[in-house]
Amino acid sequence: MSSESAGRSTWKSRSGFILAAIGSAVGLGNIWRFSYLTYENGGGAFLIPYLVALFTAGIPLLILEFGIGHERIGSAPLAFRKIGRRWEWLGWWPLMFTMFGIVLYYAVVIAWCIDFIFYSINLSWGDDPEAFFFQSFLNLSSSPAEIGSIQTPILAGLLAVWLITWGISVRGVSRGVELANRIFMPLLLILTLILVFWSVTLEGAMVGIAAYLQPDFTKLADPMVWISAYGQIFFTLSLGFGIMIAYASYMPQNSNMTGSAVITALANSGFSLLSGFGVFAVLGFMSVSRNQPLDEVVRESIGLAFVAYPKAISLIGDAGPLFGMLFFLSLTVAGISSSISIVEAFVSGAEDKFGINRKKLSTVLCFLGFVGGIIFTTNGGLFWLDIVDHFINNYGLVVAGLLECIVVGWFFNLDIIRKHLNKVSNMQLGTWWNWVIKLCLPLFLSVILLNQLIRELFTAYGDYSWASLIGIGWSWIGITFLVSFILAVQPWKTQRHLEKGRGEELLPPV
Ligand code: PHE
Repeated sequence: MSSESAGRSTWKSRSGFILAAIGSAVGLGNIWRFSYLTYENGGGAFLIPYLVALFTAGIPLLILEFGIGHERIGSAPLAFRKIGRRWEWLGWWPLMFTMFGIVLYYAVVIAWCIDFIFYSINLSWGDDPEAFFFQSFLNLSSSPAEIGSIQTPILAGLLAVWLITWGISVRGVSRGVELANRIFMPLLLILTLILVFWSVTLEGAMVGIAAYLQPDFTKLADPMVWISAYGQIFFTLSLGFGIMIAYASYMPQNSNMTGSAVITALANSGFSLLSGFGVFAVLGFMSVSRNQPLDEVVRESIGLAFVAYPKAISLIGDAGPLFGMLFFLSLTVAGISSSISIVEAFVSGAEDKFGINRKKLSTVLCFLGFVGGIIFTTNGGLFWLDIVDHFINNYGLVVAGLLECIVVGWFFNLDIIRKHLNKVSNMQLGTWWNWVIKLCLPLFLSVILLNQLIRELFTAYGDYSWASLIGIGWSWIGITFLVSFILAVQPWKTQRHLEKGRGEELLPPV
């Protein structure tokens, strides 16, 4: 195996790799984003498009990302460089908009969770959690242009998030990321099981669960429901982030990659379905205790965790503080195992290309992550978060996924990846998979993208001013795009781009 990159990190075991991949996938998105989408899009009927999206897009694409990373032996930039010289930027771009976009505000949401662990102790939100969250805690201004000042508790939480992320990421792949996930994932599972069992025993829980499982099939006719399902699958499996490519590249030669992708995807969705029971049970409990219809207790996704839950926690009685602490702790753990994965994906790319020492690199990145996140801790922070999130999810992840399929499917011999995967895995992929990547996925993703784009042009997202949308949202996408080109044209400081992929001997490249 002399052609394998000397000095590239590796996982200690396959289970460590799978746990880390699940750690990246399972995040804040599984707990509140999934539950909220399910609720909003027709309860149990949403599970149909969700599962269709999982099998038609999520799993095939996760297999592709694992295949690219493992066969090309590289982080996203290195892997795309080895796919073709002119595609290297496509490896950098996701790293740019995740490290200097998604994780900046994602860490701020984790910071809120950390603060709420403490607020749970004495139910600091009092009788009006809504006013507490928006007025006292966020001290929300009236528009993104009004930045105002920094909210100190959020800043403190943010510092804690980055210190923990840094502490794990400087320790490297096996002693840092792998070990942390070996602790975090079982811990998260236990916390979730406790919370779910506890929630279903609350009075009225069944009302919520009935709403969760009761399908409203009329919603299936609405294309937006399908679009939300595909969007959620992308976000939840960390697809188009460049993370799964880097993680797969750390696996040794003979590793069952296809099987690992299937396990990761099923575990991630299983986790979402499970925590959905907990969330809906709590909503049912609230609607019964307050004698309010269920649809009045949830209003928006952020409100679900930081307004509706605090209300429920106050109603639980003596054990409320404990329930609250466990809930916000579980969100924190889920979030941190995802934020580490973004830092790791970037470290991996920069290490591959520039040979920079990973300790220095993660220190610098975590520092930049902290500083870059400060804007989201201000009074206008929630607006910034909302805009950046909207643009990166719709025009970052989806475009990255779409281009990934087109480049690997049409400008490279996809069979190299498929044959390599089949050689190392138990589960065999037929040529149908090539067509899913080459045709079906680009088709689905283009429909989603066009639909979004058309709506975007006719109605300003979220009623923000065009100036804010262009100044924040579009610029964010544009700048990260530009920087990825600049990074891609820099000369290589290592020789890794000259090495062959693992599957090349199986087939002559086209
Ligand atoms: N899969 C994550 C989630 O569902 C998304 C994510 C991954 C966010 C990595 C940040 C970092 O929450």
